[in-house]
Amino acid sequence: MPLQEIDSGAMRLNYQDVGAGPTTVVLIHGFPFTSDLWRPQIPALAERCRVVAPDLRGFGASQLPAQPYTIARLADDVAELLDALGIRRALIGGLSMGGYVAFEFFQRHRQRVAALLLADTRPDPDSPEARSNRTRMAELARAEGSQPVVDELLPKLLSAWTRAQKPEVERALRDMMGAADPEAIAAALMAMAARADSRPLLPQIDLPTLVVGGTEDSLTPAEQLREWGRRIPGARVELIEGAGHVSNLERPDAFNALLLDFLGGPGGAPAQPPRGTL
Ligand code: MLT
Repeated sequence: MPLQEIDSGAMRLNYQDVGAGPTTVVLIHGFPFTSDLWRPQIPALAERCRVVAPDLRGFGASQLPAQPYTIARLADDVAELLDALGIRRALIGGLSMGGYVAFEFFQRHRQRVAALLLADTRPDPDSPEARSNRTRMAELARAEGSQPVVDELLPKLLSAWTRAQKPEVERALRDMMGAADPEAIAAALMAMAARADSRPLLPQIDLPTLVVGGTEDSLTPAEQLREWGRRIPGARVELIEGAGHVSNLERPDAFNALLLDFLGGPGGAPAQPPRGTL
C-alpha cells in the first residue's frame, strides 16, 4: 500500500490515503502496530469512500520526535493530518489504543467527527496495577528492545481459533510488532498509562457509533464492551464470534460486513440515524 507523508514542522507523519467519495473514514491502529493493521479494511472501504490511515508517531514510517508523547498529542496529529488533507469531518475509527485516540479526538475535535468506530477498545483508564505493568514493559522495551514485549503481548491478542486456523495472522502481527521502535513502544505504553478517563464522554456521544469487538477478546472482554457500548446513546454494539483482540484481522469478512453495513446510507453515510449528520 503506498505511503504518503506530511511534514508538520516538527515531524514527518506517514499515512495511507486511498479511495474517494463524500465520506472519509479515518482508521487509527492499535499498539504496537502500524496502518498496515487495516490491510483487509482499506481496499474494501475504498470502493465506497476515502480512507485515511495514519502511522501514529513513532510507528511504521512516522517519526518519533523528542516531544511529550500523549494520547491527546496523537489525536491532535490526526486532526493536523486532516487539516493538511483538507478534510473537515470524517468517521473516526480506532482499534484498542486507536480507540483511546478516537475518544480523545472526540473530546478535543468533536465538530470534526461525523461518526465513530470503536473497535476492541475501552473507555476506562488503567488501574494502578495496569499502570505499573506498563512501566515495567516500557523499561523492558528500552533495555532489551521490542522482542520481549512482543513475546509477552502476542499470546493475549488472538483467539484460540485464530491461532489454530490462521497462523498467518499471528505471523503478520509478530512481524509488525517486532519491527516497532522500542522507544515508540515505551512512549506509547506510558501514554496509555496516563490516558484520560473517557467514560464521562459516553452519554455525550450524539453521533452514529459502531462499537465492535471479538467474543474471545481477553484484553477488552465482550461483556465489558457490551456494557460500556450501551452507555453511548443509540450506539450499535456488535460482537464477532470467535475473534480475539484484533477482530479486524482475525475475522476480516465479518468486520468489513459490519463496517460496510454501518456505512450503508446514501453516499456512504452511516445508516444509523441518531443525531449526527455527515
Ligand atoms: C492495543 O491493542 O492497542 C493495546 O492492547 C491497548 C492496551 O494495551 O491498552
